[in-house]
Amino acid sequence: MMNNDRARSLQNKAAKQNAKSAKSAKSNAGKAPSKAEDRPPQQRSSKISRALQQKCLNIFRDALWTGPEDVAAVQEVKGHLYNRDFHRAFSSEAYLRAYALRWSAARALGYLQVFEDIDGFLTDLRKGTVSGQPLKVLSVGGGAGAELVSIAGWHNFTADARDSEPEQASLDVKLVDIAAWQPISDKLCEAATSMPVLSKYASAALREANVPMVSKEHFQATCDQADVLEWNEETVAAQAGSIDLVTIMFTLNELYSTSVPKTQRLLKSLTTNMREGAYLLVVDSPGSYSTVAINGAEKKYPMQWLLDHTLLGRQPETALWEKVLTNESQWFRLPEGLEYALELENMRYQIHLFRRRSPQTE
Ligand SMILES: C[S@@+](CC[C@H](N)C(=O)[O-])C[C@H]1O[C@@H](n2cnc3c(N)ncnc32)[C@H](O)[C@@H]1O
Repeated sequence: MMNNDRARSLQNKAAKQNAKSAKSAKSNAGKAPSKAEDRPPQQRSSKISRALQQKCLNIFRDALWTGPEDVAAVQEVKGHLYNRDFHRAFSSEAYLRAYALRWSAARALGYLQVFEDIDGFLTDLRKGTVSGQPLKVLSVGGGAGAELVSIAGWHNFTADARDSEPEQASLDVKLVDIAAWQPISDKLCEAATSMPVLSKYASAALREANVPMVSKEHFQATCDQADVLEWNEETVAAQAGSIDLVTIMFTLNELYSTSVPKTQRLLKSLTTNMREGAYLLVVDSPGSYSTVAINGAEKKYPMQWLLDHTLLGRQPETALWEKVLTNESQWFRLPEGLEYALELENMRYQIHLFRRRSPQTE
């Protein structure tokens, strides 16, 4: 968990960057991204145990693994992804299962680190001390399950880390995705809230200590199939109006590639309709992997620049969003010794966390 000093230092860094981005917004448009992505990974200490990471992987295994045929399905999906044939890559439930097993599992571990990064900002909401209500999360493009499992893990590690402060808000997670992920996310939710499957050789002690990642009474997740770029103002108000945290993880660049104007409209609509004190989390590939062409022009804009431009405008000090945490390039590296039937990959990401402010009155 991030301590207050670290939260404050990240906050200061974000504030400085807000001021800098106001000055350089115009001059930076379209320039090559900085070389921050080439820096060595940060040294960091983490409260996330390897046992918890293993539990996350076991959720994917228990929910989705059917046997060696899954390895063949992963190879086929990999081929379709390589050929950028996304339609075929996600064309059957077996392929969706294979995708989640192979790619979402590693992402879920990376996102566990992300939730540790932002936990210092969300502590009051997570403990239910702000509203006494469940902590409500909306994950845009989150159907494939990485967000679901990492949020369950986040609930688990914060509960463990705060034995002396056991109060924890329930979590209400809404995934929305253009693809038909519901059968997969239902299975993952069921596995996260059920007793993990143990080997028949497991000791009596292990059996006794066996508990779900998170209890059904503390964790709910649903998955809706929808194209968020077609949401009108009323839909955004209904979907995001009472949400505490909206996540857009490895999805914003995809939305921008589909339509810059529609993505800008969605972000503006979230700005109008999200409540004061709510958070917007954007995580995506760093640097040159996340650039956007506007109107088919050759010049490409860094995704982060477009995001800041929409949410903070030219005067970040008076914008409706405050950028409270930002990092252009961060690594999540898998520890040694995790057991999983499929290859897992380290993850490099850019991260930006915004908090909705109240409108400034002159
Ligand atoms: C690269 S995947 C990332 C998945 C997941 N968030 C993760 O990080 O593992 C992008 C996701 O966004 C979804 N997506 C793309 N365009 C969308 C849209 N217009 N509306 C809703 N979901 C969309 C895709 O179906 C896919 O699940």
